[in-house]
Amino acid sequence: MPTQSWLKTSLVLPLLLLSPLQSVADIHHHDKDAGLFSYVTHPEIKAPRWKVNITEPDLVTPGYWFVAPFERIDQPEPGNGWIGPHIYDGNGELVWSGVHLNKNWDAIDFKMSNVRGQDMMTFVTQRDGDGFIVDNSFTLKEKVDLGTFGVDFNSHEFYFNDDGSEAIVLVEDRRDSSKEQALGIGYEKDCKCLFDGFKVLDTKTWKPLFEWTSFDRISLSESTFLDGGVNTSCEDSWGWDYVHLNSVDRDQNGDFYVSARHTDSIYKVSKDDGRIMWRLHGRQGDEGEWDMKGLRFSRQHNVRFRGFNGTHELITILDNANGQDKQHSSHPFSRGLTIAIKADVEPKTARIVQAIDHPLGEGSYAPRRGNYQVLPNGHIFMGWSEQATQSEHTEDGKLVMQATLATEWLGTYRSYKYPFVGQPAYPPKAASAAYMSEYRNTTSTMVHVSWNGATEIASWNLYKTTETGSPMIKIFSKEKTGFETSMVWEGFAAYVIAEAIDKSGKVVGRTNIAKTLEPPEDAMMSAAVAEELFWLQEMRGENDGWRGKDVYAPVERSFSVSLLIFFFGVICSIVAFIVVWRLRAKGYLRGVRLPRYQALADQEMAEEEVGEQPFPKRLSSRYYRDGS
Ligand SMILES: *[C@@H]1O[C@H](CO)[C@@H](O)[C@H](O)[C@H]1NC(C)=O
Ligand SMILES: *[C@@H]1O[C@H](CO)[C@@H](O)[C@H](O)[C@H]1NC(C)=O
Ligand SMILES: *[C@@H]1O[C@H](CO)[C@@H](O)[C@H](O)[C@H]1NC(C)=O
Ligand SMILES: *[C@@H]1O[C@H](CO)[C@@H](O)[C@H](O)[C@H]1NC(C)=O
Repeated sequence: MPTQSWLKTSLVLPLLLLSPLQSVADIHHHDKDAGLFSYVTHPEIKAPRWKVNITEPDLVTPGYWFVAPFERIDQPEPGNGWIGPHIYDGNGELVWSGVHLNKNWDAIDFKMSNVRGQDMMTFVTQRDGDGFIVDNSFTLKEKVDLGTFGVDFNSHEFYFNDDGSEAIVLVEDRRDSSKEQALGIGYEKDCKCLFDGFKVLDTKTWKPLFEWTSFDRISLSESTFLDGGVNTSCEDSWGWDYVHLNSVDRDQNGDFYVSARHTDSIYKVSKDDGRIMWRLHGRQGDEGEWDMKGLRFSRQHNVRFRGFNGTHELITILDNANGQDKQHSSHPFSRGLTIAIKADVEPKTARIVQAIDHPLGEGSYAPRRGNYQVLPNGHIFMGWSEQATQSEHTEDGKLVMQATLATEWLGTYRSYKYPFVGQPAYPPKAASAAYMSEYRNTTSTMVHVSWNGATEIASWNLYKTTETGSPMIKIFSKEKTGFETSMVWEGFAAYVIAEAIDKSGKVVGRTNIAKTLEPPEDAMMSAAVAEELFWLQEMRGENDGWRGKDVYAPVERSFSVSLLIFFFGVICSIVAFIVVWRLRAKGYLRGVRLPRYQALADQEMAEEEVGEQPFPKRLSSRYYRDGS
């Protein structure tokens, strides 16, 4: 025995000292955070809560929020129920959590996409370089290997264009610059840089249709990301992130708009040969070939082509206007910008058509990430990224809603709003537990139900049932109250099933049979529990063992025997009477006086009258004794 415990200690102790303990601590660090939802039916989900401020309720566009909260890109550990793609309704109530799909590793750019003509949810994970395509039954339809993070993959875009036949992804091209490039910034050795690029993939084969790199196209001298100077930047062990591409779109001709955060520039790239046709520098403004009339932007994100009106190309960007480095801000707050560009004139012109201000006002920045979405009704949905702050604005810019995650430690890469119908391919879930209600002084059953992702349910029907699922006896109905609905039924139901009912009253889903957790001891000995156990026995046919068999039969049998004996007695009496009567008639019993027939109850009288005659007396007295 001592050997064993010594062995145990020597094996377990080193294990405890190793990093897994640290990992577990990291993972569970936020488990009890008040800013997270938790659910009985889905303990693996801990969706972040929202603080929602709806300023114009009548103007808010119906739809669902699509966000993918994460703590940080390059997270060292997975989260525990809060990191991944999430859908919320317009009040911040959870509709779907997909944290299981990416195993709680950061998901980026969770949105609706047109994939080969079909509406799909898509997102990308940096850790594995995978693109996820999920349909509205929450079935993972495709997982595309987009590359390897840090080698040839950069997680900013998984952007399906037009009819969904192609998708744009960003690539990371980490290598030493050319000697010329390095010398151009006064650096005499090799300068290792991230020469970000992009590729256009055929969404049928996932083979590239077009590939582009910034190497030898965007010079190192264009970078404004230079904290610590050129020496420090070029000696960065990971490589100098000198250009940092973050979004790419195509114009009406198929040429590309490319946003580079660390040069504060938007590039127009030719679809034919990849040459840079022109560059719109957000900080240099009116200098050179552009007339920008006061337009300034920096550290911008999410360039999107919005159309060509015959004279001008319209694009939108999130002008972050500030980064996390030392470069000073280019505007007092971040804003969404619509910019009209005319590049076929000298000088080229760029004008602000509309600006959407950060809802939290002056001094409020999205210093990294973020996006600008135009809704089908013309409203604008902005993702400000930090704490996943997002806002909706009317076409003319009026703020109608603003929401921020309650968890300060989480943000999102982008935020979107879509109309959406979620119809899960899996059944809803129910969890049931019994407890002693002191108030009602009996055992009650508490049932929680949910259906991760279902948008169409209006209410729930609750049934008690057996372990076979039949029969189903309806015991309760309740309107759906949120992601998870709880119901309490006064009584004990050992097995339950819940049905999801849609807005038209149709049953659209049914849970598996949920066995109620054993009631605690104090709730075990109640009439409700006894009644339920009796009912279960009845349903299982166990009661047949005793029901129908007459447990009181011995008593009843003795009664019928008595009845027989009674009739036997009556007949004997009659026979005896006739015998005596005959004997008397023949003169053998002259001295005996025969009584008339007496009521049986009148025993004493009969005995008295029979008097000293032993035979009839014995007969009648035996009859009474046996019949009693
Ligand atoms: C809601 O937003 C409006 C407009 O920005 C602001 O004036 C108000 O203070 C906000 N309310 C809360 C509770 O944050
Ligand atoms: C950069 O490094 C070179 C040598 O590698 C040195 O001569 C030069 O002074 C450094 N520049 C700065 C600004 O530190
Ligand atoms: C195109 O849009 C620009 C910017 O809003 C505007 O100045 C121009 O007049 C428009 N052109 C046409 C043909 O509508
Ligand atoms: C609950 O029922 C028990 C058993 O009938 C009884 O002794 C007890 O007083 C009741 N308690 C309440 C709070 O009614």
